[in-house]
Amino acid sequence: MSVALITGASRGLGRATARALSRRGWSLVLDARGADALRETAAGLPEARTTAIPGDVTDPRHRAALLAAVERFGGLDLLVNNASTLGPSPQPQLSRYPLDELERVYRTNVLAPLALIQTLLPTLSEREGTIVNVTSDAAVEAYPGWGGYGSSKAALDHLTAILAVEEPSLRVYAFDPGDMRTEMHQRAFPGEDVSDRPEPEEVVPALLRLVGESPASGRHRTAELLPPVGAR
Ligand SMILES: NC(=O)c1ccc[n+]([C@@H]2O[C@H](COP(=O)([O-])OP(=O)(O)OC[C@H]3O[C@@H](n4cnc5c(N)ncnc54)[C@H](OP(=O)(O)O)[C@@H]3O)[C@@H](O)[C@H]2O)c1
Repeated sequence: MSVALITGASRGLGRATARALSRRGWSLVLDARGADALRETAAGLPEARTTAIPGDVTDPRHRAALLAAVERFGGLDLLVNNASTLGPSPQPQLSRYPLDELERVYRTNVLAPLALIQTLLPTLSEREGTIVNVTSDAAVEAYPGWGGYGSSKAALDHLTAILAVEEPSLRVYAFDPGDMRTEMHQRAFPGEDVSDRPEPEEVVPALLRLVGESPASGRHRTAELLPPVGAR
């Protein structure tokens, strides 16, 4: 039985990934802060193979509860660090970025994924498992206004690259999904029509390919893993 923990599974890419893995027979541990939306996601999945635990990834007690749920399934094959925050919307320029907000962005996007990895490393190592840290092109491109979120994803990218060499028995990926029509994306472009962006479900095949084909650890983008949208 393959077991995955997906953070931020109540909507967007996390929910789409949970549904796709579940259809392929995976057992899932899922989280998000909003209990109602998380419950709704879980309600559509097989009860015996799904554990949904509402909570905040920045909370150590919540992370301990996630570990306990993983242990009830007997171990972990795949950790998808997907939960993330954009920070304030509209995004402030760095010259006036509120530092308490920046701290919150780093706690959620950098420290919490690393903390989960530290917590789950023994079981992941035992199963020669896979870590997918969901990153963004904002980690490598210098978009004005994206300094908070973008620098947090740059830090996540670098953690990923170093973990990959420190933990050679694992696959450790930074996965850049590309633009998706989600709540986060709408918050990044307030008031703009984002309906031309792909749905997260269109991106999931790229993530599944990564997990299924197990290429070398490193940074991977949907654009490289899937044929161009028109050709799919
Ligand atoms: N959408 C894009 O265009 C785009 C582009 C590049 C990269 N990404 C990345 O793709 C991933 C998914 O993004 P998305 O667009 O699907 O985002 P989304 O629609 O905002 O969904 C985010 C999910 O994470 C959960 N979450 C947020 N903060 C959390 C916390 N502290 N603890 C636990 N759960 C938390 C949310 O639920 P609650 O709010 O209820 O907790 C929700 O389930 C993120 O890592 C994002 O940075 C997105």
